[in-house]
Amino acid sequence: MGFKTDFLWGGATAANQIEGAYQEDGRGLTTMDTLTVGDRNKPRQITYQTVDGRVCKAERLAKVPEGAVGYIDPDDFYPSHTAIDFYHHYKEDIALLAEMGFKAYRMSIAWTRIFPTGTETEPNEAGLAFYDAVFDECLKYGIEPLVTLCHFDIPLYLADHYNGFSSRETVDFFVHYAETVFKRYRKKVKYWLTFNEINVLRSWLQLGIHPNDEQTKFQAVHHLFIASARAVQLCHDLIPDAKIGNMVMYAPSYAMTAKPEDVLANIYYKRQVEFYLDVMVKGYYPAYKLKEFERKGIRITMEADDLDCLAKGTVDFISFSYYMSTMSTTDTTVPKTPGNNILSYKNPYLEVSEWGWTLDPLGLRIALSEMYDRYHVPLFIVENGLGAMDVIEEDGAINDDYRIDYLATHIRAMRDAVVLDGVDLMGYTPWGCIDLVAWSTGEMKKRYGFIYVDVDDRGQGTFKRLKKKSFYWYREVIATNGESIS
Ligand code: BG6
Repeated sequence: MGFKTDFLWGGATAANQIEGAYQEDGRGLTTMDTLTVGDRNKPRQITYQTVDGRVCKAERLAKVPEGAVGYIDPDDFYPSHTAIDFYHHYKEDIALLAEMGFKAYRMSIAWTRIFPTGTETEPNEAGLAFYDAVFDECLKYGIEPLVTLCHFDIPLYLADHYNGFSSRETVDFFVHYAETVFKRYRKKVKYWLTFNEINVLRSWLQLGIHPNDEQTKFQAVHHLFIASARAVQLCHDLIPDAKIGNMVMYAPSYAMTAKPEDVLANIYYKRQVEFYLDVMVKGYYPAYKLKEFERKGIRITMEADDLDCLAKGTVDFISFSYYMSTMSTTDTTVPKTPGNNILSYKNPYLEVSEWGWTLDPLGLRIALSEMYDRYHVPLFIVENGLGAMDVIEEDGAINDDYRIDYLATHIRAMRDAVVLDGVDLMGYTPWGCIDLVAWSTGEMKKRYGFIYVDVDDRGQGTFKRLKKKSFYWYREVIATNGESIS
């Protein structure tokens, strides 16, 4: 006995990292479009132009001064503008996913293709038609679309004119967008997610907020919760046979020693993600967070029925990304290593990837058990994978055995969680099933895919798609419902 027969094997992507065509058919700009390419040593930057025409750059998570008049420096490169040009290759790409036997394809809708500024009353028909075509293509092959409503790409206009999610109006704009796509795609899409990695969203870039202090941030987070809870209720009303989940970045954290101080530090650390899960799955603010707000003098402005809305808008399942584990300690001299949206303490028992991310397959079983034991709702792994540099051999082969090893060890761990721990797992959609732009660095050479895309860090290449060794391996995994992995 292993995975259930209707287990959703597939892969995952996000609009701003694959589509390109950033100004085609009426698409509006998102904050993601202001991000330049970077690399391991050079962080991505936001560019902005001042009223007197100067082009300035700010750190990825910094504050862009109010009153910026433009964002694009013609001399720099912006990966989201072209990405892998899925916009014009989606038929070919989905055919390749189908060839691997995908049962589900996780993707996101670009909010600004539907509402270019976020504020329009009427949607952009060309944007809606594009996703109709994409979903039809998936359904033609029996692939279930699993759709994220917002994967980091909030409309630039809302950041500039409404202070993003710090304003309540943005909640209404989001809900109008969600309602529009639920109504349009109710016959085609049965699996939805609200905000990607809601627990690590921050700053102007992902929340559109000014300034970036805790008071502003947690007010914006409250608005995300309300936006999500309202979307959940709408989805239930409009598409009764659909399921809608939240999405968090989950990195299980281990106390570095048995010292009670380290154990307590670990409890505090874990609450950073549990807070988001508690509100969205249980439907109320946990006591520890209310006490923290009190201590720090953070006051959340709420409308009269907000608590009721949270209670009624709980999700049907939890989805999460898993790339790595982390550690908690009170010893600040312990060396650190980069990770997925976090700087992590380096675990002496574990290796790291080329980009410094901690490799820990057993951590996936731990993550699944922790969440299932605490929340008792179905789980869905909607991101997992190894970002690595691939080499094309002279004969055209791409022998990515390192990726196969990574995925096999993680699939074994998730099977143990199902078989030995009784976790109810809906599916597995590893990240970047087709090569795409890396979010943290903007690089193309940090590749995750089963399918190679011939484009480099500056957007140059033929855009040809090639099958890697892992393509054939994953096809076998899906065909045998995971049994091909011993
Ligand atoms: C997750 C995001 O944080 O990690 C993805 O949801 C991202 O958008 C993925 O691409 C992997 O990170 P990176 O930086 O290697 O692309």
